[in-house]
Amino acid sequence: MSNEPSELLRSLRSLSGPFPSWDIEHLPDRPGKLFLDWLRVAIDSDVKEPHAMTISTVDQDGRPDARILILKNVVDDSFYFASSSESQKGQQLKDNPHVALTFYWPALGRQIRIKGTAEDMGDEAGADDFRKRLAGARAVAMTGHQSQKLESEEVLESSIEAQKERIQRDPDVVSPQWRLYAVNAKEVEFWQGDSERKHVRIQYVLQGGLWKQYRLWP
Ligand SMILES: Cc1cc2nc3c(=O)[nH]c(=O)nc-3n(C[C@H](O)[C@H](O)[C@H](O)COP(=O)(O)O)c2cc1C
Repeated sequence: MSNEPSELLRSLRSLSGPFPSWDIEHLPDRPGKLFLDWLRVAIDSDVKEPHAMTISTVDQDGRPDARILILKNVVDDSFYFASSSESQKGQQLKDNPHVALTFYWPALGRQIRIKGTAEDMGDEAGADDFRKRLAGARAVAMTGHQSQKLESEEVLESSIEAQKERIQRDPDVVSPQWRLYAVNAKEVEFWQGDSERKHVRIQYVLQGGLWKQYRLWP
């Protein structure tokens, strides 16, 4: 095997298939419905972590920023995630709620791209999501400072320990910084890869309160 990165990368296959069929003559009226149909196929096909998605935000200097998060819920055409309002993304969303979500399920050759605005669902929704987290995850979230510079492992360990004790004393304690956000979709693209590169792309666009569908060139 070559040590040249370009040759090494060229030797890797992508979109080799076979992929599931997709009947684009009978598409649901709404993208949220098609998303759930595709999610069920991904789960039935044993796609690993199909609920992990890339969320892209825009920072205070207008630069893109992106990271992976877990999808928590889908209601109509809104896609939910949870995170700390103290984090970089939390700060960015306060200034600019525009986001993009991206899913890729390699075993199915499927990509889904969502554009919309993120909305903080309020104190009770954040607390409710927080209470559903495992005790260990709650303790780490309670330490706060997500995305800030960490001085040492010891500081982190003692902070987690202190929060675990706090949760033991008060099992209902919640972190007010833990927020549930809904991304209200305005544009959603479903992309079915093809090994001959004749990819099938359907874009839903919200226009005047109604979802319009367009086929896009591969
Ligand atoms: C598979 C996976 C799932 C993740 N899920 C979450 C999540 O649900 N919420 C969260 O705040 N961070 C999650 N993270 C961590 C984020 O990618 C990120 O490191 C963190 O939220 C800080 O991002 P920020 O500095 O851009 O705010 C996850 C990371 C991975 C790889």
